[in-house]
Amino acid sequence: MMKKPAVLVARAIFPEVLQQLQQVFDVDYHGGDDPLSPAELRQRLQGKAGALTTGSERIDGPLIGACPDLKIVANMAVGYNNFDVEAMTRARVLATNTPDVLTETTADFGFALLLATARRVTESEHYLRAGRWTQWRYDLFAGAEVHGSTLGIIGMGRIGQAIARRAAHGFGMQVLYHNRSRLAPEVEAACKARYVDKGTLLREADHVLLVVPYSAASHHTIGAGELAQMKPTATLVNIARGGIVDDAALAQALKDRRIAAAGLDVFEGEPKVHPDLLTVPNVVLTPHIASATVKTRLAMAQLAADNLMDFLLKGQPRTPVNPEALT
Ligand code: 8YV
Repeated sequence: MMKKPAVLVARAIFPEVLQQLQQVFDVDYHGGDDPLSPAELRQRLQGKAGALTTGSERIDGPLIGACPDLKIVANMAVGYNNFDVEAMTRARVLATNTPDVLTETTADFGFALLLATARRVTESEHYLRAGRWTQWRYDLFAGAEVHGSTLGIIGMGRIGQAIARRAAHGFGMQVLYHNRSRLAPEVEAACKARYVDKGTLLREADHVLLVVPYSAASHHTIGAGELAQMKPTATLVNIARGGIVDDAALAQALKDRRIAAAGLDVFEGEPKVHPDLLTVPNVVLTPHIASATVKTRLAMAQLAADNLMDFLLKGQPRTPVNPEALT
């Protein structure tokens, strides 16, 4: 019998997906809650042809160099800023991600966070739980309007467009967007979205929503200077990546009421959170759960596993990030 290829599953995944992998591969499974350290990851990747990772595992040039058998790393995420794609391509290691299967779910969450932030949902819940609600008041937790307001989306990929459709068609919002490149006219029309420069977006939006992929170029897309351009009544929502926002500058802006409120699902250096963000009341904080429905997380795990199986067994990955690694 042919020897099964060896793969590492670097984080806990759904048992039914793990079982499929175990049928066709010799699986080394790290099901622990803590991610593997870089040294452990390097050690456990020895002799492995493939790996299933999440955003927590850094796959860079030195690691790739130390793992000569590695042919594919399948990320269970649409974002792949944990990969050094250039180094992977040079070493002919295929990278795959999980696009499409999480688009609508993540867009739903972007909206949930926007609504919770603008309408002060968690702040008012904390107040109620603390037993501080003793009577009705005309301005008790009066927040900002969502329907009919202006939404500025920075990063207009699949998820940005899905949010724009919800905003324009469901909530009657004016949608502005800023992106590396302008969308085709028919895509703009379907999202009812207008392309503007970043400064115009920051000045005109009532709510600014970030869905831009993380890269050196998008580091601190929002810092003190950008926060100063936003309306004092504005809200900021980040469902993209930590590092897109300068969290220290944001905490200061929230403290000073330079902007009204923020909703954050991602943080610089997560799972650590800037201590000042934990003490300001006008921020909604969630632990990187934008794609977290059972159905979607299962679809993401399945797609990552399918990439491993289709590539290592049939030579045909489903969603490669760097197909040029194979040429
Ligand atoms: C993941 C995400 O849950 O897909 C992404 O890029 O940020 C999330 O959906 C996270 O990256 C874990 O892999």
